[in-house]
Amino acid sequence: MAERAAIVTGASSGIGLAIARVLGEEKYGITMAARRPEKLDGAAAGLAGEGFDVQAVAGNVAEEAEIQKVVASHRERYGRLDALVNNAGIGIGATVGEIQTKRLDMQLDINLRATMLFYRECLPMLLAAAAEHHNALVVNTSSIAGKRGEGWLSVYAAAKHGVVGWTESMNKELAPQGIKSTALCPAFVDTPMTDFIKEHVPAQEMIRPEDVAESVRYLLRVSPACVVPEIMFIRPGDAI
Ligand SMILES: NC(=O)c1ccc[n+]([C@@H]2O[C@H](COP(=O)([O-])OP(=O)(O)OC[C@H]3O[C@@H](n4cnc5c(N)ncnc54)[C@H](OP(=O)(O)O)[C@@H]3O)[C@@H](O)[C@H]2O)c1
Repeated sequence: MAERAAIVTGASSGIGLAIARVLGEEKYGITMAARRPEKLDGAAAGLAGEGFDVQAVAGNVAEEAEIQKVVASHRERYGRLDALVNNAGIGIGATVGEIQTKRLDMQLDINLRATMLFYRECLPMLLAAAAEHHNALVVNTSSIAGKRGEGWLSVYAAAKHGVVGWTESMNKELAPQGIKSTALCPAFVDTPMTDFIKEHVPAQEMIRPEDVAESVRYLLRVSPACVVPEIMFIRPGDAI
């Protein structure tokens, strides 16, 4: 049984999959969660084939009951939680006059509300890990759109600003008890999420998912005396 364990949401591709691999390399047992089971099972089989201790739990993080299912499956398999990675996310572009309520709700639910509910559901396991080693970690994938407003992606940007604010609040509330939170704020990363813009911004000029994931290795090594509230990742020449 792994001595440390993690949950990664949105672990079936892109940044989440790269973070899951880093956690595997760091000898964590990992619950990989994402929405579509076939894609998730393929990703989990890939990491298991590399020798990592993973389980796949499909679930739509927009649904409270499915979040609870992911957390319960993790508890049953690993019995502890040292790192929680709230990474599942979607972005749907629209000008303000064209915003559809259903799409607005989806973006807030998946990007922001799910993060809040995962904290609540995972709190007992995180507190137990913190009592043991004072270094429980929660990583919340925000975006550079969580640091500056964006036209057309305004709902996404608002949700990601919410993630940065929530992370700050969690550090006020939980860091004194040994649960430290970090918001990751990347600009364009070469994942399926940015396919829509690759005609204009070539994939090879984008940040690599591994660039973002490597920061999690660093965060795992930071001493209990140090909180890293956020990390920005920008491309050469980008304005923040
Ligand atoms: N790529 C970028 O340029 C960029 C920049 C800044 C921030 N981000 C953020 O990084 C995170 C990861 O995105 P990515 O770029 O790696 O994109 P991605 O490759 O499309 O991965 C998104 C992941 O989230 C999962 N997901 C989406 N909706 C879900 C739901 N309702 N329930 C459970 N899982 C769900 C997806 O699973 P399914 O495919 O099964 O839905 C997938 O595993 C997101 O929060 C995104 O906002 C990305």
